[in-house]
Amino acid sequence: HPLHEFLAGLPKCEHHVHLEGCLTPELIFQLAARNGVTLPTDDPAFASIEALADRYERFANLDDFLHYYFEGMAVLQSESDFADLAWAYFLKAHADGVHHAEVFFDPQVHQDRGIPYETIVAGFSEGCKRAERELGLSTKLILCFLRHLPVASANELYEKFLASGDYEKGTIHGLGWSSSEVGPPKDMFREIYASAREKNIRLTAHAGEEGDSTYISTALELGAQRIDHGINLIQDPELMKRVARENILLTVCPVSNVKLQCVKSVAEVPIRKFLEAGVKFSINSDDPAYFGAYILENYCAVQEAHKLSVLEWRIVAENAVQESWISNERKAELL
Ligand code: ADE
Ligand code: ZN
Repeated sequence: HPLHEFLAGLPKCEHHVHLEGCLTPELIFQLAARNGVTLPTDDPAFASIEALADRYERFANLDDFLHYYFEGMAVLQSESDFADLAWAYFLKAHADGVHHAEVFFDPQVHQDRGIPYETIVAGFSEGCKRAERELGLSTKLILCFLRHLPVASANELYEKFLASGDYEKGTIHGLGWSSSEVGPPKDMFREIYASAREKNIRLTAHAGEEGDSTYISTALELGAQRIDHGINLIQDPELMKRVARENILLTVCPVSNVKLQCVKSVAEVPIRKFLEAGVKFSINSDDPAYFGAYILENYCAVQEAHKLSVLEWRIVAENAVQESWISNERKAELL
């Protein structure tokens, strides 16, 4: 498409990418061999790199994807595994024109396999520091609580996070929630978010991806300042007006929505409706190693389906800077 060069050169901010979602089939097999981790033997998808990559072409829904996502991350063992994974993402993001990245990570499933919280945070944080130093990328780590696990597990992690001082140190910049949407109670992290709000900790939440717009209103009620995905916001025009009025950013992931069958095509992602309603959004990759598309491919897919003008793209890119969780000085550098 004609805007490819323009989109490649457009300074981008990424707000929705899971570092564990950057684990490619190649790296899964490489780390499994290096770390002596046995991949599931009862699933033919794990027979080879090619079989695994091929299975990723057929996710039935969010939970089907999450199964592979949580199996895959079992190969991560040492601090350097986490650091290398983050670095691999930042290198690719840099090549795609990302200048600022806010990245999610999911400690609970790693902790359940015996990896200490400190190892996970140290590794990912090392990758972030290297990106700042060597690529000039600014980075922020966002810790996610998982909706498919018991609330008690999230509470334990939250206590660990508070005790670590990682927020005060700036090692972790905010909190989010992710994993299965429909099923667990919409407000399962009410207490954690109430406590975090009191401490002025930045909060985001995955909502309105597979779930309807009431998942979004509940997330906002609990204190989320941003909504990850949020495409089902269009089901509720009043809520949409409120999101626009209150300047709540949606971190939209168009290719992810297609791959997880939340929509039939990128054309169905309500990009135009959000633009027209004044709803701010950024365009992101979510789990690029699983969906076969990093951020630039997401920008290009949106362009092919929605044909935005150069001016509209400038607005999208500027909104992404303005709504990033960074200082005004850093915003000025990015604008
Ligand atoms: N974790 C990783 N990717 C996710 C997604 N798209 N939705 C919910 N949880 C996730
Ligand atoms: Zn996500």
